[in-house]
Amino acid sequence: MSFLEIKQVVAGYGPAVALHGVSLSMEKGQRVSLLGANGAGKSSIVNVVSGLLPVRSGEVWFQGERIDGWAAHRIVGLGVSQVPEGRLVFPKMTVWENLELGATTLKDTVQKSRILEQVFDLFPRLSERRKQMAGTMSGGEQQMLAVGRSLMSQPKLILSDEISMGLAPLVVRDIYDTLLHINQELGVTLLMVEQEAKLALEVADTCHLLESGRIVASGPADEMAKSELVRKVYLAED
Ligand SMILES: Nc1ncnc2c1ncn2[C@@H]1O[C@H](COP(=O)(O)OP(=O)(O)OP(=O)(O)O)[C@@H](O)[C@H]1O
Ligand SMILES: [Mg+2]
Repeated sequence: MSFLEIKQVVAGYGPAVALHGVSLSMEKGQRVSLLGANGAGKSSIVNVVSGLLPVRSGEVWFQGERIDGWAAHRIVGLGVSQVPEGRLVFPKMTVWENLELGATTLKDTVQKSRILEQVFDLFPRLSERRKQMAGTMSGGEQQMLAVGRSLMSQPKLILSDEISMGLAPLVVRDIYDTLLHINQELGVTLLMVEQEAKLALEVADTCHLLESGRIVASGPADEMAKSELVRKVYLAED
């Protein structure tokens, strides 16, 4: 069985169906990106994995356990952490307090401060601003904080949603470099939603293309980058 398996998942919101029988699987250590237009169902997929969006039918398995139907906090406890779309940091709390909120699965305070220092090593800018209110930081810094917060639960799988949204390319590159480091050095598996196609294909080893709640193409990122569909529609090449 794979590290993560999504099997024939149907999910939606009220009468609207957002995912029409989506299946995908990931191995440990992989970097997978989900590409697709607005409303294609990218966030819905990661929300199904993190337990924020219930499945109507189908199954989700993580490391041999069937997790669909589980409460989100139990899924975090298994080692699945989400960097949500729009960052969602707490603006009236300091950087430090925001990070601590990500560590609710950790009871041991010594371990907690060790992981905090790890996050500060990865993001020196957060370290410099540890007492600053999160809401007063730049968009890029807030995104770093959102990634840092997700690391506080010592995840095995990170789900990230639109890291690049509204940020300057250099900052985005910086954050993805840190995620690549986390993947390569700490062995954390990454499932990334990324609407910037060029970036999605660069940072991932495997890519799935979504259209209207269905996966319409999948493959190694370098092959997907050469496919006609991806080149014409998503990379806007002739
Ligand atoms: N809270 C909600 N209530 C009703 N419909 C929703 C809700 N969230 C998403 N949808 C619908 O579900 C479908 C898939 O949405 P989803 O957010 O997964 O797309 P996405 O690929 O992440 O898009 P984007 O790139 O704009 O973030 C869309 O048709 C959307 O309108
Ligand atoms: Mg989305």
